[in-house]
Amino acid sequence: MNVTDLFSVQGRVAVVTGGSSGIGLMICQALVRNGVKVYLVALASDPIEETVRELNELSRDGGSAEGYPCDLSCKESIHEFAQIISRKETHLDMLISNAGIRRDPPVACNVLTASLAELQASMWSSRPSDWTDTFAVNTTAHYFLSVALLPLLAAAAEKTTTTTTTTTKGRDEGRGVIVVTSSCASMHNVTNVDLTSYATSKAATDHLVRLLAAKYSRFYVRVVGINPGFVPSKMNPVGAQGNIFSALFDKVPARRAGNADDLAGTVLYLVSKAGAYVDGVSLCVDGGRILLANGQE
Ligand SMILES: NC(=O)c1ccc[n+]([C@@H]2O[C@H](COP(=O)([O-])OP(=O)(O)OC[C@H]3O[C@@H](n4cnc5c(N)ncnc54)[C@H](OP(=O)(O)O)[C@@H]3O)[C@@H](O)[C@H]2O)c1
Repeated sequence: MNVTDLFSVQGRVAVVTGGSSGIGLMICQALVRNGVKVYLVALASDPIEETVRELNELSRDGGSAEGYPCDLSCKESIHEFAQIISRKETHLDMLISNAGIRRDPPVACNVLTASLAELQASMWSSRPSDWTDTFAVNTTAHYFLSVALLPLLAAAAEKTTTTTTTTTKGRDEGRGVIVVTSSCASMHNVTNVDLTSYATSKAATDHLVRLLAAKYSRFYVRVVGINPGFVPSKMNPVGAQGNIFSALFDKVPARRAGNADDLAGTVLYLVSKAGAYVDGVSLCVDGGRILLANGQE
């Protein structure tokens, strides 16, 4: 055993959603730099072409990127995307189902100090569509995307690699895996900002990880979750003026926000041979945040 073989993803095929920014982009960069063919999925309004060009400039060991616009809140769009990939590939080694949104109440308040009337006004200002949109992207999309791509993922798990001395199944090398991006917000009860619809959708997502892992277990298509803490992105512009979390970054035990290496290390572990025996669990990557974020800040 050596570390390079254990964590190798060279020659694999991946779909990464929400790949044009933030955590998705960090994951795409790690994969393309390590020899993976990445299909990047993002909204048509995102800078897909520009991101794909930049990713291909990072390419090493045969890694590459192609971009596809797809609105993941629409089942029909997911179906069309899956058909495109199915025509191009015989198998899919990994689905990084990462896209997500957060819809804060239009009327903000400090939940720790607000009067009852202020708290009620803030919470009531949430629109029903904020909740349905959030669940459509943060929870439901993972379900339909995983179902649509299941045959390709199962083919990767079943694929055999033969050398002069051994024959190995893809599943034993970590192939055929779904990594769902949840959030550590599903695991704590922070109250100083109101993330209720977001955190609720992510808690549902954590259970979805276990449900899908059980559903796909006969084919050993693994399903795992990652639950990041604070990571710089469009959704969480760490360092920007007015960020609602800015008072909290120094309170994380790690005393910093997460970075590209933290996310890359986690994902490379889960999708490679190193993670081939990990299924149906959610891995918190939050610098220790949930140890302390327990109903206060
Ligand atoms: N950054 C953090 O601190 C943090 C912490 C915990 C968990 N997360 C999770 O990490 C994941 C990635 O978020 P991020 O922080 O990297 O934020 P981000 O930079 O905003 O990335 C999310 C991406 O998903 C895309 N997206 C949204 N709705 C979509 C849809 N219907 N179809 C296709 N793509 C869609 C977004 O496009 P638009 O920008 O055009 O909407 C964006 O490119 C999310 O699931 C988020 O909940 C983030």
